[in-house]
Amino acid sequence: MSSRFLMSDAGHYGVHYQINPWMQPDVWSTDPAARIAALKASEDLSAALMAAGATVERIPGVAGLPDLVFPANAAIVLDGKVLLARFRHPERQGEEAVFRAAFHDLKARGLVDDVVELPDGVLQEGAGDAIWDGNRGFFWVGHGQRSTDNSIAAIETVFGQAVVSLELASDRFYHLDTCFCPLQGGKLLYYPPAFTPAALTAIHAHVAPQDRIVASDEDAAAFCVNAVNIGQHLIMAQPPAGLRARLESKGFQVTAIDLAPFILSGGGAYCMTLRLDRRSKAEMACAAE
Ligand code: ARG
Repeated sequence: MSSRFLMSDAGHYGVHYQINPWMQPDVWSTDPAARIAALKASEDLSAALMAAGATVERIPGVAGLPDLVFPANAAIVLDGKVLLARFRHPERQGEEAVFRAAFHDLKARGLVDDVVELPDGVLQEGAGDAIWDGNRGFFWVGHGQRSTDNSIAAIETVFGQAVVSLELASDRFYHLDTCFCPLQGGKLLYYPPAFTPAALTAIHAHVAPQDRIVASDEDAAAFCVNAVNIGQHLIMAQPPAGLRARLESKGFQVTAIDLAPFILSGGGAYCMTLRLDRRSKAEMACAAE
């Protein structure tokens, strides 16, 4: 069965405010080629997903909501259930209603089953801070920068799944998906300096040393940890040569996309997408009857 992703059109994308240290509105506004480059980068990413066998659902961009191009922050989706996000920064809060409507449309089309809201007082920025680990059968949940720690209990309750909490230590790696990427076969690409000592202890308790692939400062700053993994395919922003070689030596097929216009907003391949069809129990190949 092919995997299904949500993406948002990049027509209204831009870097117009600064809510993380990567965002550079001045660089964006003085580069006349930036808008065209962003449209091309978004098309290249969706083409790479489709080349890896995925289906891509697209929603239109909205003027005044430039970060709508990062649907990983819109919701957590598992087993057909959509838990809508609540954003920390006022600059992104306008996206909530747009994504709510988009998920209700997906429900009407039968692509998701249920759309639910977070409890009051919880901030949670979607799959950017809650990553399902299909090999281990639990969510890794990031908090401390954008999502609040009370999101942990909310996610456990809504999905009825276990959660491992990871506190993020750096404002440069403000969503879990900027520094943490579980891969096919139980491997993990991650950037240790982004985590508190307790979070690193939790990671190391669950992931054996031979399964850990440590990203360097350069790999993390190139937004390569923010990657989409579909089977053996790994789709990411342009990796430093050393990282590509390490991933290929472990059997991954790396597709590199020039995502510079989105890195200027603090985002990469993973957060420009949201996986819609993830199941907690991998589907069994079984006979028709
Ligand atoms: N400019 C966006 C923000 O600061 C980028 C979001 C990237 N998303 C992610 N899941 N890493 O919110």
